[in-house]
Amino acid sequence: MSEQEPRIAELHAAQPGDRRADFPALDQQINGHSLVYLDSAASSQAPTAVIDAVASYQQNDHANVHRGVHTLSHRATEAYEGARDLVKSFVNASTRSEVVFTRGTTEAINLVAQSFCRPVLKPGDRIVITHLEHHSNIVPWQQVCEQTGAELLVASIDEKGQINIAELIGMLDERVRILAIAHVSNALGSILPVRELVEKAHSLDIPVLIDGAQAVPHMPVDVLDLDCDFYAFSGHKMFGPTGIGVLYGKEARLESMPPWQGGGDMILEVSFDGTTYNELPYKFEAGTPNISGAIGLGAAVRYLQGIGMDVIARHEQEILDYMTSELNKVDGMRLIGTADEKASVQSFLLDDIHPHDLGTILDHQGVAIRTGHHCAMPVMNRFGIPGTARASLALYNNRDDIDRLVESLNAARKIFS
Ligand code: ALA
Repeated sequence: MSEQEPRIAELHAAQPGDRRADFPALDQQINGHSLVYLDSAASSQAPTAVIDAVASYQQNDHANVHRGVHTLSHRATEAYEGARDLVKSFVNASTRSEVVFTRGTTEAINLVAQSFCRPVLKPGDRIVITHLEHHSNIVPWQQVCEQTGAELLVASIDEKGQINIAELIGMLDERVRILAIAHVSNALGSILPVRELVEKAHSLDIPVLIDGAQAVPHMPVDVLDLDCDFYAFSGHKMFGPTGIGVLYGKEARLESMPPWQGGGDMILEVSFDGTTYNELPYKFEAGTPNISGAIGLGAAVRYLQGIGMDVIARHEQEILDYMTSELNKVDGMRLIGTADEKASVQSFLLDDIHPHDLGTILDHQGVAIRTGHHCAMPVMNRFGIPGTARASLALYNNRDDIDRLVESLNAARKIFS
């Protein structure tokens, strides 16, 4: 490919779905078929802009951050902190101190459970979550409840995969120390009314954490507008590298919290008489951070901002609607997760074909989906099933991908009939 071609492709890109050329991994044959990637809820592909930013840093600028007087350390620090500024603007945080780099959503939620909740929780206190949470927004709360004697309350979901809002609101009272909810369900695609829930919780002085891992790649997110206390997300689901994520926290909340891990970078001064901790956000970034990951995440933010999150959201909604209606035409199809407000994900079962068998047959035809419980076993229990097949979208998917998915499902039915 000449150097001109990607730029020409970009100029002609009318829709995010035409941006396939920006993602080199999509341009390959799998089992003799062109790849159709419908597993972005598990991990999205990276555009050249991200791959190049990481490679350029590794080739030219790598050194440790915040530590050296030499040029490479300055460059690395500038790029790492520049990524923080990009993330700040991406989610509209008030200050860069509110952007803590973590390994991902899971680590961000564990940080809040252990540093914000554990020191104050006691028997009789409560934490409220919902039935559609990913394991990473269940297990850290179970653990902190075990550690402190607090109780975990779970708001139910209905047949469509929507939370029972009245029930959830009924659980909120002076005993609740935090409400922890997904913005978008990874297994069902349901969008939760997070703004409304934050408002309700705040009227009772209950802080709110939002697991935004499945929201940030798909829709504009404004933490100031949401007014949430914490918002967690991962780089690798938003076209960045693995091993990097973000905990956004309101400055006053983060200031009030003790460090979670001890080590280098999170200190101002250490002696055997005691240690003074660093200021925000470094207080929560012990040890050498994932510098190249943060730089890649910054490049992903720049890439997304270049397209526009509202443009991406509109495109994906159109493809999701098309996918839903096309899947509904497949004989033997049972859609799992049919909430009125949805984003990017459709789980399903086909006849009595085991989801793993279905996923394998589809892979033979170059179509990548995820199968299993999607790290949301309670959701599967709610529907009385061991797992589902799940097709999940990103900005690079288009109607052709959905047509290929449907063709492959019809072919799978023939094989199993
Ligand atoms: N949380 C990821 C998923 O939903 C792994 O697939």
